[in-house]
Amino acid sequence: MKILVTSALPYANGEIHLGHLAGAYLPADIYVRYQRLKRRDVIYMCGTDEHGVPVTISAEKKNKTPREIVDQYYKSIGESFKVFGMTFDNFSRTSLPVHHRLAQDFFSKIYEKELIYPREVEQFYCVRCKRFLPDRYIIGKCPKCGSDGARGDQCEVCGHWLEPFELVEPRCLVCGEPPKKTRTKHWYFRLSQFQDRLGKWIESKKGWKDTVLTFVQGWLREGLEDRPITRDLSWGVPVPLAEAKGKVLYVWFDAPIGYISATIEWAEKQGKPDLWKEYWFDKETRLVHFIGKDNIVFHALIWPAMLMAYGDYVLPTDIPANQFLNLEGGKFSTSKDYAIWLPDYLKEFNPDPLRYALTRNAPEARDTDFTWRDFQAWHNNELADILGNFVNRTVAFVKRYYDSSIPEASSFGDRDNQILAMLRDAPGTIGARIENFEFKTALQEVMRIAQDANRYFDHGEPWVTRKNDPAACARTIHVCMKIVTALSVLADPFLPFTAQKIRDMLRVDPGGWDDGGQSVQVKIVGDTSILFEKIGDDIIKAQVGKLHKETIDLDYFTRVSLKTAKVLSAERVKGSKNLIKCQVQIGDAVKQIVAGVGKDYTPEQMLNKTIVVVENLEPAKIRGVLSDGMLLAAVDGERVILVTTDGAAASGLPVK
Ligand code: MF3
Ligand code: ZN
Repeated sequence: MKILVTSALPYANGEIHLGHLAGAYLPADIYVRYQRLKRRDVIYMCGTDEHGVPVTISAEKKNKTPREIVDQYYKSIGESFKVFGMTFDNFSRTSLPVHHRLAQDFFSKIYEKELIYPREVEQFYCVRCKRFLPDRYIIGKCPKCGSDGARGDQCEVCGHWLEPFELVEPRCLVCGEPPKKTRTKHWYFRLSQFQDRLGKWIESKKGWKDTVLTFVQGWLREGLEDRPITRDLSWGVPVPLAEAKGKVLYVWFDAPIGYISATIEWAEKQGKPDLWKEYWFDKETRLVHFIGKDNIVFHALIWPAMLMAYGDYVLPTDIPANQFLNLEGGKFSTSKDYAIWLPDYLKEFNPDPLRYALTRNAPEARDTDFTWRDFQAWHNNELADILGNFVNRTVAFVKRYYDSSIPEASSFGDRDNQILAMLRDAPGTIGARIENFEFKTALQEVMRIAQDANRYFDHGEPWVTRKNDPAACARTIHVCMKIVTALSVLADPFLPFTAQKIRDMLRVDPGGWDDGGQSVQVKIVGDTSILFEKIGDDIIKAQVGKLHKETIDLDYFTRVSLKTAKVLSAERVKGSKNLIKCQVQIGDAVKQIVAGVGKDYTPEQMLNKTIVVVENLEPAKIRGVLSDGMLLAAVDGERVILVTTDGAAASGLPVK
């Protein structure tokens, strides 16, 4: 079986931040490292996405050419990925000739099959700039929330997806001129023709993540529409038709083809120019696309339809898309520079602590939040105190009391056998998690081994038995060294640099995944090195201080209607430990609010409190129960504390 893994090609218009890593890159690298340890035939393709409006806009902003921008970021993104430990077999780029050729070939072949056709459309044209404006080149007021600065495809404030013509008071992003609707021609891909085939195909993907299936089924239910796949831009892959002069392929048409061209380039670099075909044209290949949730529609519907339209190619086997990672309670934002950029992180810390934090907290099923405090706590209390401590105390003991050579054990007791049995099972159980894209749980299980190992060490008290029962001491240390060896394999996909450090101490290569280091004989240990030095508060404070918290203006704030409210009644939502349903009085109105405060408050304790609520939040159903508003509470880790007024206050008062 061949496995072909890809991560979404990042736009070459900025650095990578932690949100990107958690979404499409780190999980893929873990998966690939695991498959390599399983000795499977796996290749991992990535590269930069160098076309499209994201690149041209960045170039215009920075007064550079698109070429300069993509050259700069191709290089710097590739470098920081490398330092972070990403193990792509090829990191390519979509501006290469091999990619342009292949993307044009895709267009031509699909065009010949009459699955691409031209259509006259109206489009915004800027008279001053003398050009058609792709959607993101138009800004205006959002028709939904009214905030200014919405783009022609989406309002970043409220998240609403829109068409350029829906914008209120549209303007050209470059010169500010109101654009004119003008007729032009674009080429459309007949996505509608693939409705049934895609529907059936998705039907067969029962094992995909729920979040992905729900999303895709939503689109299928709405009915798929033909999509324009050309743009009026001077930067990109030229449309291979004489009558389409000056037009390029839409970036989302060419970019996924980059997965293939990256493989072709890889094969050429290997001196086996046909090798790529063995992956892409073999229907048995497991093709796995790692992406973030914003890319689902492109990978799970449009791209497979393109592959079906072309024919011959293998279709994606799985698309384990992740949800989003937030940052200290806010959204990552490149334009607002609210982010932790990978190169900045790497200047101050090692890769593994970040790989750990991002996996421990992976947005696998829902959005999660990265905080520096968690990062520090997990590093110090888990990596250093559990994993680092166990490896260190074991190896140090061997050096000190056994002259660096591992003691033999002649017989084992129940406790030893129990832990040895667990080690034998670990590759299977952890591997199953990884193959199912449950990286968070897989990592937990690795850490559980280290935790059990510390307990085993403590219970064995080798520092005591060393003096009164040397055989018992030797047994404990012998088993502990087995665990260290196992960890050097099992932790490898997640914490490759740490695993390497451990292997350096072992002085042998423990081998493949399935063996989990159990059959190698480590005889002697090398130099110990501290695996994780504690990270102090001052360092974390400095990092938090560097974040550009997003600022909002008063106008924005006043759109949130905060009111005092009195809790008239409260009861638990059936079947939920944490949800409480309250009726609250807000002036003359009574509203029902469902709040996740049931772990810290009983319904009785809520009664008659004067709290603060967001009055104009869109109503939502929580566990099938309507919630028309939201109450405010301080969140202290797991604990929540209601925001109440300082003394009695009437209900319905505005809170400003
Ligand atoms: N550049 C896109 C993004 O960052 C992802 C492209 S993925 C590919 O959202 F499949 F098109 F390559
Ligand atoms: Zn203009």
